[in-house]
Amino acid sequence: MPDQAFLGTAFHAPAPDRLDVLENSLIVVDDNGMITAVHASGSTDALSEAERFRASGRLVVLKPGQFLLPGLIDLHVHAPQWPQLGKALDVPLEVWLQKYTFPLEARYADTGFAEPIYESLVDSLLANGTTTALYFATTHLPATELLANICLRRGQRALIGKVAMDDPNECPSYYRDASAELAAADTRAFIDYVRRLPGNETQLIQPVVTPRFIPSCTDDLLFRLGGLAKETGCHVQTHCSESDWEHDFVIARCGMTDAEALDRFGLLTRKTVLAHGNFLGDTDIALIKQKGAGIAHCPLSNVYFANAVLPVRKLIDQDVHVGLGTDIAGGASPSIFDNARQAVVASRSLEGGVDVAIPPDRRGVPDSRITAVEAFWLATAGGGIALDMPIGVFAPAYQFDAILVDANAGDSNLLLYPDDGPYDILQKIIYSAGRTNVSKVWVAGRLVRTIGPKSQD
Ligand code: GUN
Ligand code: FE
Repeated sequence: MPDQAFLGTAFHAPAPDRLDVLENSLIVVDDNGMITAVHASGSTDALSEAERFRASGRLVVLKPGQFLLPGLIDLHVHAPQWPQLGKALDVPLEVWLQKYTFPLEARYADTGFAEPIYESLVDSLLANGTTTALYFATTHLPATELLANICLRRGQRALIGKVAMDDPNECPSYYRDASAELAAADTRAFIDYVRRLPGNETQLIQPVVTPRFIPSCTDDLLFRLGGLAKETGCHVQTHCSESDWEHDFVIARCGMTDAEALDRFGLLTRKTVLAHGNFLGDTDIALIKQKGAGIAHCPLSNVYFANAVLPVRKLIDQDVHVGLGTDIAGGASPSIFDNARQAVVASRSLEGGVDVAIPPDRRGVPDSRITAVEAFWLATAGGGIALDMPIGVFAPAYQFDAILVDANAGDSNLLLYPDDGPYDILQKIIYSAGRTNVSKVWVAGRLVRTIGPKSQD
């Protein structure tokens, strides 16, 4: 892929409370997909560089109503739950797993079942603007390898884990690893597979150590996986303090909180992403911050399974790493835009309270709200920081993972008017952009999806 440049208006949020509008700027991307320069509008460099790229046909020029955003980052997706999206949300987490989710995930023993589902999921996430996804697969090695192949072929940046779960007390006989030893061996085999995958020399696809959560794993397995994370330097993902049931279960079994227990198993690292974290206490949060681990905020899913709102304002203010996750299919939308707006809505509900029987001055939790810009930061730069990867911002040395948001797309709810300034436009994108507005998607500088003619202009 040759080097290229992008001329137009881009938005990014290099800090939670900072929206930068790169108006009519030129973003230069090298042949490896890395941003090498961001030139301000009208600067001498911008003009001469733009001419150079234009002359060789490697300049993408945005039209009025089109904006570049960093690609969206989904920190928590259960790939096998894609067929369950939008249903089975009627029971609590511990029932949902046994009644609906484990039977569905068990079917991925058959790669023929898995293949069309995984292809459809990856295509849909890209169509919604998700350039990086952190995936839970299933316990099955072949189907998890298949997911890695599909992400690589489609060009999505993906971090993927073979799910490890071996405890016969919580996992049904038809869906669990046969032993801690075999679960750890398959995890290692998957790490080796991805790292040696032909075509994955840039490590666009990365393996992740993935204990489902403490309740479904024996201590033996958790210690083995902690050792593997240390030995291989891989990312780690798991669920943590999601619901009352999960939080209490871990305290009863381990005699300590979820975060403390994960740390004891060696699973709390700079490259760990903890899904949910709704019930984390102040000492848990301090521990997570000290370790540099991150939290995947899944605000749609939390409505069904957490019965709680994550105090994300507090986490942002304390500089704890945090981004957004869809938690497909606990959350019934594949869109990080939907989750960004739900993060704002949930934070406003937390602040205002919801029970009218309580007087307004005691109804909510003061100072809980986040803004649309903070939701945008969570969806992009926040996710990149949580993953410890140079993504989510338009700056030199970052990867050019980007989406073209087109307000003039057909059938669009995103309506701009001449009075709208850049901040209005960003708010409107966060509140009302949908799949139809994501007209092009680039990962590492490669155009991986486009609506309409493939030509760039
Ligand atoms: N905890 C353990 N497994 C799961 C899962 O699949 N989804 C959610 N939301 N929580 C979990
Ligand atoms: Fe989950």
